[in-house]
Amino acid sequence: MMGTMATRRVRWYPAIGRPLFFALAPESSHRLATALLGVPLPWARIGGATTDPALTTDLGGIALRNPIGLAAGFDKSCRHLGALGELGFGYVVGGTITRAARAGNPAPRIARSRRRRSMVNAMGLPNPGADAAAASLRRRARGPARRIVSLADEALDDVVSSLELLEPLVDGLELNASCPNVSWGRDGDNESHLRSLVDAVRARTPKPLFVKLPPFVTDTEREVVLTLAGIARDAGATGLTCSNTRPVADARLSVGRGGLSGRALWPLTTRIVADVHAATAGELPINACGGVFTADDVATCLEAGATTVQIYSALVYEGPGVVGDLTSGLAQRNVVLRGR
Ligand SMILES: Cc1cc2nc3c(=O)[nH]c(=O)nc-3n(C[C@H](O)[C@H](O)[C@H](O)COP(=O)(O)O)c2cc1C
Repeated sequence: MMGTMATRRVRWYPAIGRPLFFALAPESSHRLATALLGVPLPWARIGGATTDPALTTDLGGIALRNPIGLAAGFDKSCRHLGALGELGFGYVVGGTITRAARAGNPAPRIARSRRRRSMVNAMGLPNPGADAAAASLRRRARGPARRIVSLADEALDDVVSSLELLEPLVDGLELNASCPNVSWGRDGDNESHLRSLVDAVRARTPKPLFVKLPPFVTDTEREVVLTLAGIARDAGATGLTCSNTRPVADARLSVGRGGLSGRALWPLTTRIVADVHAATAGELPINACGGVFTADDVATCLEAGATTVQIYSALVYEGPGVVGDLTSGLAQRNVVLRGR
């Protein structure tokens, strides 16, 4: 029965959905997806998520129906978190939201690498700003998935002001402390900036706060990220999201470089989760993010120390039925969830 449902779910996207979306430029296809999300389609059926008490878990105090989250950046406006949640996610991350609206970088600012099921983006944090995001969150019913909002800004005061507007409307917060233009190498500024950000949020809300870290490859990068993880923990962050995109050069983008997402990140993800888990003595829940595509990937992340996973590229490449595939695959595997 479950097998039949899964077969039906996965077939329409490769046959119809993906060719249609991929015939369009990346941002046009994202606009189409966003427009569709505004239509009251049977999203729960389209996502096909399995509801199973064995999948329920706790993410730093947030009760989740399953450990599959939507990563930040898919709904930068927070207008479609209800429909996205209906697909079956345990939680959805809206934003990243800044205090003022931003137009972002000039196009082209997303390039696909289809064979690698990856993308490079240099969006430059386009978003409608915290006031508009708050209005969207207020207007829309919370839906079955928990809501987390991702925040970032250059100035601490702006993050605090966005926080004050958005915090009452969400179940948790994520600090995007890892825009790909973060400077690399040991950088005292990044460390003190993160400490004051987490301090400032902690002083204002007891709600769960997650810090999204950059990925690492080299030993120097690893040392920087593990130091940032320790700072986040010591300053009172609830958990960590590992990781954001990896900075790469890409001549197809107007700004010549961007952040790599998708399957190309997968070889990094489990090692990063395991290292951050060990470095923080398993004290903080970790949301694994980066190239997660299958239920096996989810199980591998959970074994490496993650409490949940977040996906973005898998939704683009595999379609909304991926939520059903991940939840049913996980239910069949009888994995023990860390947050339980
Ligand atoms: C087009 C695009 C926009 C993104 N925007 C954001 C963002 O605003 N904030 C953020 O924290 N991450 C953003 N991300 C990163 C994703 O949340 C995620 O960390 C990354 O894509 C790795 O996961 P994936 O391999 O499942 O795609 C973006 C990714 C893409 C592809």
